[in-house]
Amino acid sequence: MAADAAHAVNPWVALAYLVAGVLFILALRGLSSPATSRRGNRYGMAGMGIAVVTTLVTHSIASLPEIIGAIAIGGAIGFIIARRIAMTAMPQLVAAFHSLVGLAAVLVAAAAFLNPAAFDILGLDGNILVVSRLELMLGAAIGAITFSGSVIAFLKLNGNMSGAAILLPMRHWINLGTLGGILVLTAMFTHSPVGGPGENPLFWVVLALAFAIGFLLIIPIGGADMPVVVSMLNSYSGWAAAAMGFTLHNTAMIITGALVGSSGAILSYIMCRAMNRSFLSVIAGGFGAEASSTGGEAREQRPYKQGSADDAAFMLKQAESVIIIPGYGMAVAQAQHALREMGDLLKEEGVSVRYAIHPVAGRMPGHMNVLLAEANVPYDDVFELEDINSEFAQADVAFIIGANDVVNPAAKTDKGSPIYGMPVFDVDKAKTVMFIKRSMGGVGYAGVDNDVFYMDQTMMLLADAKKMVEEINKAMSA
Ligand code: TAP
Repeated sequence: MAADAAHAVNPWVALAYLVAGVLFILALRGLSSPATSRRGNRYGMAGMGIAVVTTLVTHSIASLPEIIGAIAIGGAIGFIIARRIAMTAMPQLVAAFHSLVGLAAVLVAAAAFLNPAAFDILGLDGNILVVSRLELMLGAAIGAITFSGSVIAFLKLNGNMSGAAILLPMRHWINLGTLGGILVLTAMFTHSPVGGPGENPLFWVVLALAFAIGFLLIIPIGGADMPVVVSMLNSYSGWAAAAMGFTLHNTAMIITGALVGSSGAILSYIMCRAMNRSFLSVIAGGFGAEASSTGGEAREQRPYKQGSADDAAFMLKQAESVIIIPGYGMAVAQAQHALREMGDLLKEEGVSVRYAIHPVAGRMPGHMNVLLAEANVPYDDVFELEDINSEFAQADVAFIIGANDVVNPAAKTDKGSPIYGMPVFDVDKAKTVMFIKRSMGGVGYAGVDNDVFYMDQTMMLLADAKKMVEEINKAMSA
């Protein structure tokens, strides 16, 4: 495996990597809106194609059969997993994939440390070059943090480990001490006189501390903050790849890693803002300690009004303006197609129909946008929180389908609530609220009750979302 410096400066290779880099930037640009996302994906695929072919043609990494064998095995596994995975399990799949990126960075760094000649990073004194020592130690450390952090995120999201925050005593001091240790030992490793192939034990000490800190950083983070964690780990995996790009003298990897790293960081920031949380407080952990995705404690019984599909169809047809708020339950029920049909039927009756999407509705960024796009809901009918929230006061019906936390007024009023501070839709201002969920016992992700269920103008439609919307459609067409 060789990162041949002569190849790295070949102007054609540099040009090809530059073109790939530009295509990746265009891909990110395209992915910023559902209307251009397909084009964005195509740019990304073209960029990756160019980067992979250029790397294969110009680097004597391994024999072609080995590479093709690895691609075939990895591709087949990825293909099978992607085909089988439920849309609702996407966050844990993403976390699992991030762990692989982290592990790959650790393995590349370890290989470079043990066999630096193959990576062309040996100095004239027979030691690994100082700058390369820094690069590979950083790549290994970030990779190890990404790996262990992602494994914990996967276990929490997949339900193999409690989603609640696990709070160790003095955790902030332990974390600070471990991080400080990593930085000091990395500096010592970089400047240590023992820098020959595989000789400096500090490499393994830093690696062990980095594995530990990834674990320590994620266990105190509660379920409600997991979306931010996943995008933060996405960012780390990018920086790990970028650091490895330096070790491998591969410009495309540096560019791609930096793009993934910075876009993941921006996404984490956007999600923190959407939940009104500061990034530092998420990282410090502990939020959502009492929240759980299973709900739990018994709640007092309060009176509520239940309606039928016929009632809902009648009232929807009478309305002038309907705002639909989809949430996680719509994804579980796969109700998006029936919902689009309902929207079409209402439009035929002259009703104004709009869809309101909360930035953290569902279980992954853009979850609702993807599902509505799949059902061919026109992009112009889809609005973001800040663009539509003031419209509820004029709406006749707020039609909530499988959403809960994103319409819970406790986020505005109850300081003790795990979702306190998250901006939510003002559905309570609409003349009528229709709320589809399966039972009064079910709770949302944060595990808290919702006062909207019990409001005078609320009609609970208790059924599976797809079944209920299909029945409403039947009643409207009758
Ligand atoms: P949730 O608050 O999780 O509520 C989901 C609702 O759907 C529940 O009321 C549930 O009640 C109902 N439901 C489930 N299956 C259903 C079905 N088959 N038919 C009808 N209803 C069904 O959803 P949300 O409002 O979309 O909020 C998202 C939450 O997830 C936020 O707390 C957010 O922080 C968190 N989160 C978001 C992300 C991202 S990035 N989007 C990632 C991880 C976590 P029943 O059980 O009674 O049916």
